[in-house]
This record gives sequence, structure tokens and C-alpha cells, in this order.
Amino acid sequence: MGRSAALVLLALLASGCAGPQSSLDPAGMGAEGIARLFWGMTGGSVAIWLAVVGLTVWSIHAAPERHDRRSARLLIVGGGVVFPTVVLAGLLVYGLAMLPPLLARPPAGSLVVRVTGEQWWWRVRYPAPGGGTVELANELRLPVGEPVEVELESTDVVHSFWVPALGGKLDVIPGRTTRLTLWPTRTGTFRGVCAEYCGASHALMAFTVVVLEAPEYARWRALQAAPARVEPESRGRDLFLSTGCGACHAVRGTPADGVVGPDLTHVGGRTSLAAGALANDGEGFRRFVAQADTLKPEVHMPAFGMLPPDDLAALATWLDGLE
Ligand code: CUA
Repeated sequence: MGRSAALVLLALLASGCAGPQSSLDPAGMGAEGIARLFWGMTGGSVAIWLAVVGLTVWSIHAAPERHDRRSARLLIVGGGVVFPTVVLAGLLVYGLAMLPPLLARPPAGSLVVRVTGEQWWWRVRYPAPGGGTVELANELRLPVGEPVEVELESTDVVHSFWVPALGGKLDVIPGRTTRLTLWPTRTGTFRGVCAEYCGASHALMAFTVVVLEAPEYARWRALQAAPARVEPESRGRDLFLSTGCGACHAVRGTPADGVVGPDLTHVGGRTSLAAGALANDGEGFRRFVAQADTLKPEVHMPAFGMLPPDDLAALATWLDGLE
């Protein structure tokens, strides 16, 4: 009974190490170094803890005459001064040696993605094919096996950009540009979060990083750069324009060219809605448009709950179709 309970506990603990948001299930160069350091330190700490507990038990049970002054002094100086000094110095050297590759900027010509922390979402800008930028939100897609520089900036408050499976976290500071290199080593979908308390919806500004094979990534880049594929006449489109959505949001290919909120040109093709807060489907769009203020406290977008239900449904269907 005790043994099976221990096994279940162990399985539960081990399953906690995996998943799309775990630095112990690394999928990038930076995260691999961090995981190695973590397991090295954990293994070392467990070994030292076992040795100290073993010595304590031994000292309780050993006969007093076995502790002569000389061996006691040797144990205190050896175990209390020499051993920790050597171990901590070794760890310091090992940790410092990890820094240069983590801080190194990728070679010239590498992809640079600019990410801006907003309240509470991430504005993502990729270089456009003919110059300029293509804007999207709360999602990065990266080619596997290539270093990418993420340029981080913020419009108002301090955030922290963290994709645990790919690398370390870095503060996003208003008035400054900080740079983080991500170097994905395997394909997959990984979750990123804001790791610095930034306001009421701090916990609602997640994002996704999808790592793809090069051809699939190239297809996605080309699709993002293209204007939205929309029907010229549709009720949802008319409502989007007449309700004033275009004052804040852009949908390339329509007159909507707002720059305050997320670019919605291909919003229906993203992995989630409202920075990871909702599923990306018609129901998700309907709920967010109607109740943005309660789903994401203190968000700048007003709630449009006053729209009649069939208008909301038409708007949601149209937005969901922007793939
Ligand atoms: Cu942004 Cu916390």
C-alpha cells in the first residue's frame, strides 16, 4: 500500500515536469542549460542532505570514545569549511560559464521579432517581405533550429517575457529595449507568460510560441503578411466597421486601420483569444466582445454587451472567419 502510494506520488511529481510551459521539459538552447543547472544542483543538494543526515544518525549512535578530538576537528574543518567552499566555488564557476552563451546575440541576419508588452496583451511585429512590419498579437511562430532575437519593449508598465520551455525570462521595461535570444531545438507548441506583476490582468496575458519546420513556417509568414481574406459584403464586416471597432483594431484589406488594440487581420487562425484567456471560436469572440471588461479586468476595450444577440453572433462569426 505504502509502496504503491509512493509510486503514484512519484508519477504525479514527474508528470509535473513535462508539458508546454515547463523549463524542465526544454525545447530550446537557453532552457536546456537552465534544466541542466537545475538537475545538477538538485542532485548535489540531495547527495549533501543524505550525507548530513547519515552523519547525524551515525553520531547519535556511535560510542563516545570513537570521537577523538583530532577526528572531530578534521570533520568540522573538512565538512564545515573546505567542502562547502569547494562546492560553492565550483557551482559559481559553472553558473558564470553558462552566462556568455545565454547573453550572446544571434549572428547578423537572424530573424528579429519585436514584442511590445501592452495592458494586457503582447503586440508582435515581424519584418514584412517588402520592408516595414507585419503585426500580430499574443503569438509567435519560429523556425526550428534557428536563433531568433526577440526585441522587448513596453508602452506603459514593466512586464516580463517568459517562455519556460525555450529560455530564461527577461524584463520588458518602458523606455528601454531589452533583447532575448530564443533558439528552439524541437517543434511544438509552447506557452509563454508574463512573469512580473503588472496590474489587474497580469495573469491574463499569456501567449503561444509555435515552433515549426522551415517550410511550414515560411507558409505561415506569407499568410500573415497577406491581407485578410474577407467577403466584400457581409453583415459581420458591416457591423465591425459601423460599430467603431476599426478605431482601435486593424483588419488589413478593409478600411479598419486602428493601431490601439491588436491587429485582427488573421485573428481567427491564432491558437487562443484575448491572450490565452479564451478558446478561439465563435463563442470565444462573442463572449469577449460582449464582456471584455469582466473577462479581462481593466482592459482598455469597452464591452459591447448592448449589441443585440444576433448582431453579436454575426460579428463573432465574421471575426472567427479571419484566418
Ligand atoms: Cu504583464 Cu504581468
